[in-house]
Amino acid sequence: MSNSNIFDLMVAEHNNVLDFIKAIEISNCNAINGKALEIQDYFDLINFGRLYADKHHHGKEELILFREMINHLGLVAVKIIKQGMLVEHDLGRLYLNQLEESLNSYKKTGSLQDKLKVIVNSGAWSDLLKRHIEKENTVVYTFAQRELSKETLSLIEKEFNAFEDKADVKESLLLLKNIKKKYNI
Ligand SMILES: [Fe+2]
Ligand SMILES: [Fe+2]
Repeated sequence: MSNSNIFDLMVAEHNNVLDFIKAIEISNCNAINGKALEIQDYFDLINFGRLYADKHHHGKEELILFREMINHLGLVAVKIIKQGMLVEHDLGRLYLNQLEESLNSYKKTGSLQDKLKVIVNSGAWSDLLKRHIEKENTVVYTFAQRELSKETLSLIEKEFNAFEDKADVKESLLLLKNIKKKYNI
């Protein structure tokens, strides 16, 4: 992994998250159009959101990249990360928890209100992540790539490699592959 590949990898992971979101948006539109909720799509989203988007991707940001940005890039970085990115990561976790609650409730009741909550929470997670990813791609990552020293970027690269060696994203990528196929993405 070269220095620029740190960011290529992160942007590629963003694109995977965006593909999952496209599928969920179609699933939500179908549900609004009167079809029954495709319950498994939303359980798969929770799984993918927690394991891939959060543990795997946000994990590298929070434990490695953002840590180095906070340590080396001054108040602007501290502000954009602590008051922006980390708050949004947390809000994403909240939406996934609320989605899980409403989905479990819908399984029991089949009620229209619970169906609405599933659509609202999955839609909120999707909108949040889309805005978050856009900000990282255009502002946060470009700032890091421009301002961090070569030495720091090399350290990040090493830690990313170690992180990737321990990671297991096979199940998440299979969920992504299957949902993309289901919705022709
Ligand atoms: Fe992030
Ligand atoms: Fe990200």
